Amino acid sequence: VRLAKYVDPMPRLPVAVPHTAAYPGADYYELTMRQSPWRFHRDLPEAHAWGFWASGPSAAGGLIGLGYLGPTIVAHRDRPVVVKYRNDLPTTHLLQSAVDVTLWKNVPGVPPDPPGGRMPQDFPAVPDVWTVTHLHGGFDAPQFDGGPEAWFTPGGIHGPGYATMGGAAANEALYGYTSRQPATMLWYHDHAMAITRLNNYAGLSGAYLIRDRLEESLALPRGDFEVPLILQDRSFTPGGALFYPDKGPSPYHPKWNPNVFGEIPVVNGKAYPYLAVEPRRYRLRVLNASNQRFFHMWFQEGGTLRPFWVIGTDGGFRASPLRLTSVLLPPAARLDLILDLTGTPPGTTITLRNDAPTPYPQGGKGTPMPEIMRFNVTPGLSSPDRTATPDRLRLPSVPPLRPTPGLPSREFVLIANKDAAGKSTHLAINQRFFTDPVEEFPRAGTTEVWEYVNASDDAHPMHVHLVQFQILNRQRFDAKPYRRAFEKWIAAGRDPAAKPVLRHYLRGEVIGPMPEEMGWKDIAVAFPDMVTRIVLRFDLPPEIAGVPGTRSVTPAEYVQHCHMVEHEDNEMMRPWQVIV
Ligand code: C2O
Ligand code: CU
Repeated sequence: VRLAKYVDPMPRLPVAVPHTAAYPGADYYELTMRQSPWRFHRDLPEAHAWGFWASGPSAAGGLIGLGYLGPTIVAHRDRPVVVKYRNDLPTTHLLQSAVDVTLWKNVPGVPPDPPGGRMPQDFPAVPDVWTVTHLHGGFDAPQFDGGPEAWFTPGGIHGPGYATMGGAAANEALYGYTSRQPATMLWYHDHAMAITRLNNYAGLSGAYLIRDRLEESLALPRGDFEVPLILQDRSFTPGGALFYPDKGPSPYHPKWNPNVFGEIPVVNGKAYPYLAVEPRRYRLRVLNASNQRFFHMWFQEGGTLRPFWVIGTDGGFRASPLRLTSVLLPPAARLDLILDLTGTPPGTTITLRNDAPTPYPQGGKGTPMPEIMRFNVTPGLSSPDRTATPDRLRLPSVPPLRPTPGLPSREFVLIANKDAAGKSTHLAINQRFFTDPVEEFPRAGTTEVWEYVNASDDAHPMHVHLVQFQILNRQRFDAKPYRRAFEKWIAAGRDPAAKPVLRHYLRGEVIGPMPEEMGWKDIAVAFPDMVTRIVLRFDLPPEIAGVPGTRSVTPAEYVQHCHMVEHEDNEMMRPWQVIV
């Protein structure tokens, strides 16, 4: 379908209202997943989508939601949040034809995985719509992390990792979040095993802001002038429904695709929307919630690029504002931006543009998406703009993390696997499957260096749960010979003493992080033919005072994965455990 641009106003995401009485000292929310009617564009028929709905603070409070995506949660640093997630979805998936049960290793009668495959959970039949919500970027106990195996269905069937605090029904899970982290934008989204790509595509994600005093003290735009923007790429059927491909390249996983790119930009649930803006400063909280499209974005006014300020990254404020004219936003990453429209004449239009190739960075598949949304400047100010010029904001410094002396760095080799016909079967980290035994046991209180050794052709946005890390540097390496040596070593039985020495394959200079990556990150772009090094400090989330069952369980297991969710759903995800 082709759609007229900038005819629909961009929806403002509704904000959920906390119940304050249920858990003294904490904010309590109920978020229910439902299927509802939703229209993605003026010229598309109404169809169905999935989203979260928040119940109001009283029984009479009604439901807060859009129909697609979820309401924004606003949390406050050190004030815990308790969320009851409920799965009231239909028992047939919105994208049922694309559900690939061969990714689901436990189903009798399906073709086996490539050699080395695994059969974890043991269900008599394929469960219906399974979901679990993860708070991306949150510092939370493992039992509330919403990991891939913690799913539950509308009928109350539970995955092997299902966990909840007391007081949840079978199709619910009750999680406690610590809020022990600086002001930033997190996001909650579906994370269910082997179906994350479809559940997110259908709409199961939402914004989650954390506020703190420091943020309060900064003269930043707020209220209507602070705008969360959830960017996604989607495709549609002529009937207005979400379209997701249901045929894959390899018979191993006949419905799974390694590369899925939507053709049309959707922002806060509308295709090619416009936002009416006043001539003043705006704070844009931008999230790339695409399944795998990268954005390399800029604000274009006529023939010129409008500069903007980056004030924060995934995990909080930067040390100082960064003035840019374009910026890279990988999947799942967030940017906190100031767009200064002060004095802009009414009638001016500013277009959010993008030129990131698909797949990133080499291109060759998918549809380009040169325009995303538009800002239309209206006359006059509804109130005076008392915000400050970004270069004069006093932002906190971000202390560089220092690796604990004597700890070796951990290598994670990223490989795309193909069948005999050269078709993609699955991706992998260190050529392990998700259910292979845990190999990484960082100790609480230590700081480590992790190295992503990308021997595939695509950039992979790597995400580690629990921690906000820093990007240390990158370095080229000879990927082809390294991969050959690595696979030979695996075939010979992985004798630790015989492991190929990465150092011998490194080429050229050590390159520092990109300017927009300086600060707290939970997404690191592992570029092809490069080693990407990150520094992570491990701590266990504290118990939430007064809320029983919130003490971190041990072993404290979390996951890391590629956040191109098609990859995550097909083995590019591994568990790891914090030990004490
Ligand atoms: Cu945004 Cu493991 O997820
Ligand atoms: Cu990937």
